[in-house]
Amino acid sequence: SYLGIDLGTSGLRALLVDEAGRPIGSAERAYAAAHPRPGWSEQDPADWIAALDGAVEELRHAHPAFAELAGIGVAGHMHGATLLDAEDRVIRPCILWNDSRAHEEAARLDAVEGMRALSGNIVFPGFTAPKLEWLCAHEPENHARVAKVLLPAAYLNLHLTGEHVADMSDSAGTSWLDVGARDWSGRLLDAGNMRRDQMPRLVEGCAPAGTLRAELAARWGLSGRVVVAGGAGDNAAAACGMGALGEGQGFVSLGTSGVLLAARDGYSPAPETALHTFCHAVPGRWYQMGVMLSATDSLNWLSSIAGVRPAELTAGLGEEILAPGRVRFLPYLSGERTPHNDAAIRGSFTGLGTDTTRDDMTRAVLEGVAFGLRDSHEALKATGARIERLMAIGGGARSRYWLRLIATVLGVPLDLPKDGEFGAALGAARLGLVAATGARPEEVMTAPEIGEQIAPDEKLTEAFDAAHAQFRRAYPAIREIQ
Ligand code: XUL
Repeated sequence: SYLGIDLGTSGLRALLVDEAGRPIGSAERAYAAAHPRPGWSEQDPADWIAALDGAVEELRHAHPAFAELAGIGVAGHMHGATLLDAEDRVIRPCILWNDSRAHEEAARLDAVEGMRALSGNIVFPGFTAPKLEWLCAHEPENHARVAKVLLPAAYLNLHLTGEHVADMSDSAGTSWLDVGARDWSGRLLDAGNMRRDQMPRLVEGCAPAGTLRAELAARWGLSGRVVVAGGAGDNAAAACGMGALGEGQGFVSLGTSGVLLAARDGYSPAPETALHTFCHAVPGRWYQMGVMLSATDSLNWLSSIAGVRPAELTAGLGEEILAPGRVRFLPYLSGERTPHNDAAIRGSFTGLGTDTTRDDMTRAVLEGVAFGLRDSHEALKATGARIERLMAIGGGARSRYWLRLIATVLGVPLDLPKDGEFGAALGAARLGLVAATGARPEEVMTAPEIGEQIAPDEKLTEAFDAAHAQFRRAYPAIREIQ
């Protein structure tokens, strides 16, 4: 059997699969993030280890197949700085991806010549390099003790194997990696005041990174050799779970934030559009994604204002989509990454009238998120990505209206996977399977069974094209007055 571990922001999920990669069972443990100051977000890596212990104990007692474990893969929330001293002791709590304290450092690093060209990305405040710059300025005694910086998934790799080893998909989110060359960059490390010896060894996500430590193997009741894969950042792992490896394959995820991800055969960064361009978890491939900060969060906000549950708001709309009306919503409740890279912008409603109803405002919110996804889609298309269909996942995909709207606004059919496993934990288990067996990634990382396809409503294409053009013009105008 193989184990996929998804080290998420709110908890850890461990999924056991059989020799063919079919799910056997899963276990979850929750943990919290601390927010000691506004904009800060930290976790104690000891909580991740405790969560892993708990989940493994549950799995191994529930499923005899655990005793035959042959491979493990870890997927982690990206960009977090886990700082270790020369004895591998954690120096301070991990600073997470959604921590914005290093925004000034990020802007400074982003302006360094060659930074965007080599790293393929804007240096976002949540990325790893600016966190270390912040540490240098605000906690110099901690900075001086840093012997290694590990991303959360690489910290679990260390716990599992005893080695400092990271995969390229996760490392691509540090701003220290030459994302095209898939190697640490001397120039980027210099720019961030870091040294190569502070970085883990790099392996591909689906390649063996090491073997499970004897002490853990004994504790978990295992006698055979267990290979640990390089692992992946959570988005690359989710793409592995959905079989999105090559050109033309991708997904749209309607979670708190919205992600439009396209797998790429080559490296064609477009940092000026605020797209993220990262290495994939399999060799010779990359992926690109647009990230919207408030997707279901926008609907949840309206629901809290209206005093009814989000599902009730969308149920009122029925399933047939209407042409866009006058009301427009800019979904920038927490600022925006793609396409604006603007942390200060906030949302807005325009076109309200005395006749505006709750349904009109709900429609405008759903449309605003769909238009934001279209901005990411257009940025992706401009890099040469061709997206013929997209898998739709996440809580927002429960709304028919929203799905039809997104298919129409993007002009792309959406595939809805049947219930089952297709997320980051499955992707991580698949990485473990490939690393342990040497199987071809393309054979293991297949797409889930599709339950239904949602087609664009072509009668409305023109009307939504015009409304999207108007949406685009609203951002600079609103920014002007905020
Ligand atoms: C990606 C990103 C998030 C984290 C947390 O750039 O910041 O998706 O990986 O899940």
